[in-house]
Order: sequence, then C-alpha cells, then structure tokens
Amino acid sequence: MVSNRFKFCENFFNPSLTSGVKIERPRGTRDFLPDEMEKRRVIEKKLREIAESFGYREVSTPTFEHSELFKLKSGEGIVEEMYVFKDKSDRELALRPELTAPIMRFFVNECSNLPKPIRFYYFENCFRYERPQKGRYREFWQFGVELIGSDSYLADAEVIILADKMLKSFGLDYELHIGHVGILRSALSFLGDNASKVMRFIDKRDEEGLKNYLTEIGVGSEMREKIKAIMNLKGGREIIEEGKKLVNYDFSYLEKLLDILDSAKVTYTLNLGVARGLDYYTGTVFEFYAKDLGAQKQICGGGSYELAQLFGGVRTPATGFAIGFDRICELIDAKAERRTTVVVAYFKGLEKIAFQVAEKLRNSGFVAVVDVMERSLKKQLSYANDINADFAVIIGEEEVKKGNLSVKDLKTGEQFAVKAEEITTCLFELLKR
Ligand code: HAM
Repeated sequence: MVSNRFKFCENFFNPSLTSGVKIERPRGTRDFLPDEMEKRRVIEKKLREIAESFGYREVSTPTFEHSELFKLKSGEGIVEEMYVFKDKSDRELALRPELTAPIMRFFVNECSNLPKPIRFYYFENCFRYERPQKGRYREFWQFGVELIGSDSYLADAEVIILADKMLKSFGLDYELHIGHVGILRSALSFLGDNASKVMRFIDKRDEEGLKNYLTEIGVGSEMREKIKAIMNLKGGREIIEEGKKLVNYDFSYLEKLLDILDSAKVTYTLNLGVARGLDYYTGTVFEFYAKDLGAQKQICGGGSYELAQLFGGVRTPATGFAIGFDRICELIDAKAERRTTVVVAYFKGLEKIAFQVAEKLRNSGFVAVVDVMERSLKKQLSYANDINADFAVIIGEEEVKKGNLSVKDLKTGEQFAVKAEEITTCLFELLKR
C-alpha cells in the first residue's frame, strides 16, 4: 500500500519524474559521512581534553564578522582570500578566515576584566577563498587556543608545549620550526613600508620573488644576500650566535624560551625564516609541518601578537596557535568506540510494543533501531544485517501473549526466547561471552 505521504512526495523522490537540477556542493567544501564524523569527533574530544587539562576553556564567536575586523591587521593574503558580502542593510560582512581577531574583539568588548592570563580554546569552521587541493579547503576547521595577558616567554613556552603535546598524542610525525618576527622585522626595518611585502615573500619561501622585489625597490646585493642568509638561517640553538652576527637584536627572550622547551623535551628547529602569513605577530612564531603530507604540510601555526589596542582596548599581549583540524584528520587513524546495536524487529500490529522495547534498550545504553518503513519481518532482519547490527530482538504475537521476546545474535545466528522484562539482562549476558 502506498501511503498518502509517499504519493504526495512521489515526484520529489522519483528522479525520472522530476525536472530538478542536480545541485553540487560549493567548490572547496566537503560532506562528511557518519564514519568520518565519528572519527572527527574522537580526535576533537582528545584535543579538548588536552586543552582543558592545561586550564583552557572553550569559547565561541560568530561565523561572520564586520569585514573591517580582519582588514585591520590580518594582512593582505588573508584579506584577498576572504568571503566578503553585504547584508540587506548594506553592512560589509565577512565569513571568518580565522579566529584570533574575533577572539580579541570578543576579549576587548566583553571579557577584558577577567583575571589574567585568560586561557581560551575554540573549535570552529573558517572560510578562505583559496585554490582547493588536498588538505586545502574553502571551509575548514581549526582547533586553537589563545593565551591572553602575558608577554613572558613562559606564555609562548606553554602554548608551544600544548600544541606539541596535542600533536604528539596522535603519534604524528612532524617538525616544529620556531622563529621570531621581531628579529626578522628588526633586520628589515630599513625597508620601511616595504617590509611587510618582503615578509610575505619570506613566508612563501619565494627566494626568486624576494630577490626581484628587493632589486626593484633598490636594495643592493650585499643587503639582499644578508636578508637571504637570515631567511635561510635554521638549525639547533647554535644558530643564535650566527643570528646575532646578522641582526642587532636581543636574543635573550628566545634563549629563555628554548631553555624551557629543552627541559620539556620539545624537539624543534630554530628557523629565522618563519614569517607567518598573518601580519599581527610581534614576537615568537612557530609552525608544525607534518612529514607525511604533501604541499599542505603545515598542520599548526601560531605565535605572539598584539591586537587588543587595535580593536579599541588597552594594549594586551597574547599568544596562541591553531591546528588545521582537517589536515591532522587525514593523518590520524582513529575509530569511534562502537556501541552495541540492536534492531527491534516486529510483526505488523506490534508497533507500539516495538517502540516501547526500543526505548527500554536505549535507556540501558544500547543503540536500538526500529523499522519505520512498514516492512516485513524478513526485510527488517535483512536490514539489521545491512547495518551490521549485533542483535535483533524479535516481537511476535504468540510470544507477546506469553510475555516473551526472541533475541537473535546476528553474529552467530543463535536465537533464544526470553522473558520481556529480562531482555536487557539477557543482552548484557550475551555480550560477556
Ligand atoms: P594559520 O597558519 O593561517 O594561522 O592557520 C592555522 C592552520 O590552519 C594552518 O597551519 C593550517 O593547518 C590550517 N589551514 C589554514 N588554511 C587552511 C585551508 N584552506 N584548508 C585547511 N586547513 C587550513 C591562523 O589562522 C592563526 N589565527 C593561528 C593563531 C592563533 N595565531 C595565534 N593564535
């Protein structure tokens, strides 16, 4: 029998009868099936647990903000990639490309009086109009933290140790590169307004572009070589001595930070060429690169910055990082713990009992699934196999009269009659075998 509801929707469900157009999802976005979602939730849960064990607490900000928030200091790269639109009141809004600026806006507007330092974490989606490829999406997720209120090397040490612990907890194979944009900017200060552009070439490791640009703005070969040497200066702590020869800067902050990281057994490469793609960083910067990913190997990035005064607050130092959640998910093989699934199968007319039995099972911790397609018992049992259920509880007229139910172990094929009130005990017993 075809129900009225089905008849009503017939054209909708039968593609041969519709004149609809197939609508693809937007480029650079993804749909996630249940297996993938379960895996993502397992990974997310672990990240939350680690962040919380350091005293970080979750916050959430709007998906879109006034575009100005990101235009003030995030840098040209981010602004070019932003999804910007006007609302019906002609306000210019943007989908957030990242969360550091929104969190600092939130801090200035609503929580600048909280005791310092403030430890926030977030897990949110971000949007960037980039050219999609493996590991690079237009909608992606970041798990990040912001530690607000300290300008000490200890704050940088804490967030680096936290990021390192998170990535290590999944057994990932990665390299951590630590730099300092203060040192880099000091070396480039003679370039005035051109320094930011030079930083972008350094961030992209574009030596050719850098050379051409420096030549174009009249930088002589000796200085060009010096900038190139700074950009390529990387290695262990010993490179600090070389750095001191190249840049007149106080390296003691960096040295104290590295002392803590050494004692915490964090493995790193010092890399003065880490410039970061965002303009707001002021001091320590760091990036984690996964060894098993291709071009999009950066799985985490962060550093110290000052944004509060730019958003109308008092100058407040902060530091933090964001993990590219989608990128680490590609590297991690996690599986959700599977809950025992029971299909409650029943003969026609016993729907109410089926719903009651299923509810009883759910309240005892089982996943209970009841047929909602008015199918035969045979089809219900075949569906139970299709969804890989562990047990079927079968409700038949004769059994119900005697206060019984049947339990079928779908892995072994065995079937038992049980008293209805003992159904959960019976399932627990079967699980122990
Ligand atoms: P970010 O380096 O621009 O930093 O992004 C952080 C991470 O997000 C990257 O390391 C990368 O793994 C991931 N990511 C970036 N773009 C994409 C994309 N198109 N598809 C997939 N993953 C992507 C920030 O956003 C800063 N707010 C981090 C921070 C927090 N600094 C201080 N506090």
